[in-house]
Amino acid sequence: MNKTILRGEKIAPAEGKLGVLIPGMGAVTTTLLAGVFALKKGNNKAFGSLTQMGKIRLGKRTDNKFASIKEFAKLADIKDLVFGTWDIFEDSAYIAAQKAAVLKSSDIELVKEELESIKPMAAVFDKRFVKNLDGNHIKKGQNKMELAEQVIEDIKNFKEKNNCARMVMCWAGSTEAYAKPSSVHDSLKNFEEGLKNNAPEITPSQIYAYAALKMKVPYLNGAPHLTTDCNALMELAEKNEVAVGGKDFKTGQTLMKTILAPGLNARLLGVNGWFSTNILGNRDGEVLDDPESFKSKEVSKLGVIDTILKPDLYPELYDNIYHKVRINYYPPRGDNKESWDNIDIFGWMGYPMEIKINFLCRDSILAAPVMLDLIIFADLAQRANMTGILEWLSFYFKSPIVKKGLYPENGIFVQRSKLLNTLRYLMKEELITHTGLDYYYDLEEEKE
Ligand SMILES: NC(=O)c1ccc[n+]([C@@H]2O[C@H](COP(=O)([O-])OP(=O)(O)OC[C@H]3O[C@@H](n4cnc5c(N)ncnc54)[C@H](O)[C@@H]3O)[C@@H](O)[C@H]2O)c1
Repeated sequence: MNKTILRGEKIAPAEGKLGVLIPGMGAVTTTLLAGVFALKKGNNKAFGSLTQMGKIRLGKRTDNKFASIKEFAKLADIKDLVFGTWDIFEDSAYIAAQKAAVLKSSDIELVKEELESIKPMAAVFDKRFVKNLDGNHIKKGQNKMELAEQVIEDIKNFKEKNNCARMVMCWAGSTEAYAKPSSVHDSLKNFEEGLKNNAPEITPSQIYAYAALKMKVPYLNGAPHLTTDCNALMELAEKNEVAVGGKDFKTGQTLMKTILAPGLNARLLGVNGWFSTNILGNRDGEVLDDPESFKSKEVSKLGVIDTILKPDLYPELYDNIYHKVRINYYPPRGDNKESWDNIDIFGWMGYPMEIKINFLCRDSILAAPVMLDLIIFADLAQRANMTGILEWLSFYFKSPIVKKGLYPENGIFVQRSKLLNTLRYLMKEELITHTGLDYYYDLEEEKE
């Protein structure tokens, strides 16, 4: 390991425009865009966003010093964000926001002009990976390398036209069918051969990611599918010194799970079963109605419990958990998902108890600030030369990518401490351990 993180005044300043490149302009993206445009007009509250309204404690509790994260970490200003998208449908963001039906029309009309100005570029698409969608705004090429070159051209043109100083790409397109890495994903060389030979295992999202990483643009994956979670694209990220983060925005049911499970584990309460079911009726729900796309989501949603509860350390509490996740496509609900969790737990002397959670959430309302924060923090990381996997952003992901040999931290509070302490580290502030002993004792080593 020979890369050095830049800290404090050495971090490149967030000057100039930050280009935000987004494959997929559906419910989450249009909700993000409408909110950001409203924010730029001073007409919105950035609820749910650490980068916009979060505070960070600095120093000792007795100092009573809290700073705004945005100012403390010298983050990019929302006013400097410019957006470019790709989609398989030609609709402008104004039409797409109406179709997504997340926001009230009064909220959409407020930023009509800005939304209308965002017209998606033609997408890289392969129906084999998203069976339930058909669109006609799609790139054509002799092979996948040609498609990647077209995306690279799009990025260059966007950068030039918008005079961007820096860029970040974040996938908010549909979830692709479940796939494991194959030999074509083993090395960058194999992958590039595969692009030229149209290897069927290379997915559209991997073509966007390849283009981004070639252009040294950080890549974030808001969906659960593979993309950069393979040797080939990680090799490219390392070689080009680019930041990557993933996978799958943590919202809704999994957010609740990773809030609750650490509490049960902290009090050593056992779990016999965790049954999670959902109904949702947006396009994401329609895509996930296909078993192969659902499989990607299922793997991502199922993974969180084990790393929090640690059945290997506490087999008598967690070895026999029956964990089931269901997603049911139910059109009348649109983006307003409803989820139910039934958790069978047990305590002292093995006595059983039950917890029921019924969350009536709004998927994209939860996802938009997550996506905004990821983009702004990934830009900070790149400016600080923090390249490769951004594990400190696992706070925002259902299925965080981590370095080989590490298990992911899924508990929300560990993830939050990791994020805040990383910001303190970057800005050369003292890390906060929460021991608090120094308020009570003289912590000088005992002298013989
Ligand atoms: N909403 C949430 O809370 C949430 C949480 C976690 C993850 N996600 C993931 O985020 C992604 C977006 O969610 P959404 O609710 O906005 O979905 P959506 O279906 O409303 O939007 C996805 C868009 O991607 C487009 N698309 C599909 N394949 C594409 C391609 N190859 N290139 C460019 N565009 C493509 C579709 O046409 C559609 O407009 C999904 O993968 C979803 O699983 C969402």
